[in-house]
Amino acid sequence: MDPRSEVLLRQAELFAGATLLAGLPADDLLGQLPAAHGWSWHAGEQAALAGRFAGRSQFGVNPPEHGFDAAVLFLPKSRELTDYLLAALAARLAGRPLFLVGEKRAGIERAAKQLAAFGTPRKLDSARHCQLWQVQVEQAPSPPDLQALARRYDLQLADGPLTVVSLPGVFSHGRLDVGSALLLQHLEQLPAGHLLDFGCGAGVLGATLKRRYPDSRVTLLDVDAFAVASSRLTLSANGLEAEVISGDGIEAAPRGLSAILSNPPFHQGVHTHYQATEQLLRQAAQHLQPNGQLRLVANSFLKYPPLIEQHLGPCQTLAEANGFRVYRASPR
Ligand SMILES: C[S@@+](CC[C@H](N)C(=O)[O-])C[C@H]1O[C@@H](n2cnc3c(N)ncnc32)[C@H](O)[C@@H]1O
Repeated sequence: MDPRSEVLLRQAELFAGATLLAGLPADDLLGQLPAAHGWSWHAGEQAALAGRFAGRSQFGVNPPEHGFDAAVLFLPKSRELTDYLLAALAARLAGRPLFLVGEKRAGIERAAKQLAAFGTPRKLDSARHCQLWQVQVEQAPSPPDLQALARRYDLQLADGPLTVVSLPGVFSHGRLDVGSALLLQHLEQLPAGHLLDFGCGAGVLGATLKRRYPDSRVTLLDVDAFAVASSRLTLSANGLEAEVISGDGIEAAPRGLSAILSNPPFHQGVHTHYQATEQLLRQAAQHLQPNGQLRLVANSFLKYPPLIEQHLGPCQTLAEANGFRVYRASPR
């Protein structure tokens, strides 16, 4: 059981009614709280919850339509995303309680101050390195307009300007990442066919690919519903059409690809782990055509080349700058 769920269950009577659990972990909490429902924006956690508790958790960037008497937000990493989620929940909870739970090292103490916009926050519990806060929503805000919270910026690329639209919580919100910038300069001579932007974030790579290779089918994939929504906004802001899918890991990607492009994930929440990227390197060959290619950018200190050589084929460094490297490899 996630420690945040354990903290909730210390006062399970507070959540015995129709409680919405927003950003819940994929553990047994829904089993312990039979009247509760989940709202997840993480495709992997949603798949696990849907498999175990059919029909009791919804995926997306908006709260479920159905009513609820209380809501718990599991504190996300980004402050802007927290702002949006708290407002979206509080808008539906006039006169009812909104709870916030999170780990101390994730900044729950600071985040709890954001509850003051809706009433007087109270700390209910502190245990398992987590805190649980509550506010009775006195001033319900109007529902936030997610698109109005998007940040837009223009990139001057070799083949023209590209508008990038990023939503709260999306990687490198409102600015181009240094690693992605390096990969954008090395998109030449990709094998024609079906291209994948793995871990697409706001869609900057995928949109650039579609414009550079208009005859290729392009798929953008991300585990995060806000990233998927951002990628769709970025494509449409540039008059481009491509397939955008939510899914957890390379397993969710199509097969028969001519190339996989990625600035792959290396952080998750407050814990650093490389699981999704290691899995990508191990399984890329199964998703690529025989003459296909993996091209990725990563921090130079990350030891990806041995993994690439073990599971795919010889790994070539195409470029190196500002602490990042672009690697290229094809199946043996
Ligand atoms: C380093 S960011 C790159 C984003 C974007 N491509 C760019 O260049 O700005 C990595 C992305 O991978 C996504 N991600 C993390 N874990 C994933 C997983 N298991 N499956 C698919 N995408 C994942 C994250 O949500 C994030 O958007």
